Amino acid sequence: MLKPNKLANNKFLSSLDISRDEFLHILELAKSFKNKKINIDLDGKVLGLIFDKSSTRTRVSFQVAMSRLGCTTIDLNPTTSQIGRGEPIKDTARVLSRYCDVIAIRTFDHSDLEEYAKWSTKPVINALTDLEHPCQALADFLTINEEFCDFKDVVLTFIGDGNNVAHSLILCGALLGVEVRIACPKGYEPNSLVIEQAYKIYKNKNLLKITDDPNTAVIGSNVLYTDVWSSMGEENQKDEKEKVFNGFTINSDLVSKAHKDAIILHCLPAYRSKEITNEIFESDKSRIFDQAENRLHAQQALLSCLLQ
Ligand code: CP
Ligand code: NVA
Repeated sequence: MLKPNKLANNKFLSSLDISRDEFLHILELAKSFKNKKINIDLDGKVLGLIFDKSSTRTRVSFQVAMSRLGCTTIDLNPTTSQIGRGEPIKDTARVLSRYCDVIAIRTFDHSDLEEYAKWSTKPVINALTDLEHPCQALADFLTINEEFCDFKDVVLTFIGDGNNVAHSLILCGALLGVEVRIACPKGYEPNSLVIEQAYKIYKNKNLLKITDDPNTAVIGSNVLYTDVWSSMGEENQKDEKEKVFNGFTINSDLVSKAHKDAIILHCLPAYRSKEITNEIFESDKSRIFDQAENRLHAQQALLSCLLQ
C-alpha cells in the first residue's frame, strides 16, 4: 500500500515548493485516495483555514479532505476574528501555530502568505494568492493524467489572463515537462519572473510559449483551459477586461482547431458566454467537474504528506 512521504520543504506556497518526484507521488496518492485503495487516520489533527477572498471549492474540499483523514478544520473568518482588525500576520501566525497542525491561506499579496509561512512553525498551504494557485494545479494535472497517461505527449493551452492559475500551470508544466502554451491579450502576459523560473526548469525551452493569438495556440492542443477574465479583487476592471478579452472565448470554433480528442478544463467559478460558451462548458469534452472533484483527492494527498 502506498504511504505518504514527508515533503522536503514541508510547505506549499508555490508549485515549486515540491520536486517533480514529490509532485508525482502526490498524484499517485491522490489516485489511491480516489479509488479507496488507502485509508489513513491522522488522529484529530487540525487545519486552520484563513480566507481573505471567497471560496466554494477550495474551502469545502479542504474540509472534506481533513474529515476523510480523521481530522478537523477551523474556518477563521477574517471579519469575525482579529485578522480583519489588522492584527500583525507575525502574531496571528505564531498563535495559530500553537493550536493548528497546518494552515491554508487564501489572500491577495503573495508576500502576506510568505509572511505567515515565515512566522508559522506549522506547514502553510497556498489556497490562492494573486500570484499562484498551486492546489488548483495539483488537481488539474491529476485530471490531465487520468486522461493522458504520459505527460510528455500533452500540449496544454491556457486561454485567458496570465495570472495566478496560469502561473501555477506554467510552473507545474515546467516540473513535469508538459508543453504549455499561454494565449492572452497583450498586457495580460504572465509575470516575467514566473516565466523566468519556468525556463530555468524546462529542459526543452521550446515547451513554453506565450502568444496573443488563441487561434494558433490551440492547434494540436490536447487540453484547453480557461479561467475568469476578472479575478477576485479586479471587479472594478470587469467592463474594460471584457473588451480586451474579446476573441479569447473558448467556443466551438476554437475547439475545432484543437486535437480531435482535446478535453476542456476550467478551474471554476465560470462566466458562461465570457471566457467559455455554455455549449463547450456542457459538452462531452468537458472534464470540468472531474477537475473540481479532484481538488478533494489532490488536497487529501497533499495534507497526508504535510501532516507526516
Ligand atoms: N477553483 C477555485 O479555487 O474555486 P473556489 O474559488 O470556489 O475555491
Ligand atoms: N483567477 C481566479 C481564480 C479563481 C479560482 C481568481 O483569482 O479569482
